[in-house]
Amino acid sequence: MINPSSARTADQPLAVLFDAYGTLFDVYSVGQLAEQLFPGHGQDLSVLWRDKQIEYSRLVTTSSHGAHYRPFSELTRAALVYAIKTIAPTSTPEKTRPGFDHEIDQLMNAYHRLSAFPETDAVLQALRSLGVVTGILSNGDRGMLGSAVHSAGLEGLLDHVISVDAVRKYKTHPEAYALGEQATGLKSAKILFVSSNSWDALGATWYGYQTLWVNRYQRPFEELGTQPTRIGTSLRDVLSFFEV
Ligand code: LAC
Repeated sequence: MINPSSARTADQPLAVLFDAYGTLFDVYSVGQLAEQLFPGHGQDLSVLWRDKQIEYSRLVTTSSHGAHYRPFSELTRAALVYAIKTIAPTSTPEKTRPGFDHEIDQLMNAYHRLSAFPETDAVLQALRSLGVVTGILSNGDRGMLGSAVHSAGLEGLLDHVISVDAVRKYKTHPEAYALGEQATGLKSAKILFVSSNSWDALGATWYGYQTLWVNRYQRPFEELGTQPTRIGTSLRDVLSFFEV
């Protein structure tokens, strides 16, 4: 049974903050488009794109005191160019083909118009009816997050849309996670942070949040000695934190 706010126990979270990409927003449609544009390479391209995007976010956060920081949409585009340059020569005989501007624009446009996972709406509605504060805490910059929230129809269901761009440091930097406490006025121990990215769930756990790792794809968790508070398979598992 779900606990109403009046009967909340001491360790139940007062706010739930969600990671964005892969957690609330399904990037699968981008993979499908990548397959259409680069037949036989869509999967490799999507994986490399995502890995490079995260690698770049760490590179600019940890190098030269942040001097090379760029907003996430720019890092995402740079990572896509890198991924295409890596994959494309094997998918086209025209190795000297100049650029892939049209493909890049199409994929970036798709990234700005992602749909939310099907259970998102119901889970956010349930949290709000319990009186729980809701929000996003994401590496995405304001423009990207605004268009994703809009295209997924989540406006009105989120109290906070927090971008790490405010501190120009990407997760898992503690200043990035601290934004969640600052926006809600709550200590991290009173906040549940939800991510499908195991590294993000780990970073948030280390920071002090209660955490749910949404393991949608039956992967192992990180092997660094710390476990998230709970592991689930869909966003619905958030609601288990509020059961009596
Ligand atoms: C985010 C990425 C890491 O939304 O998924 O922060």
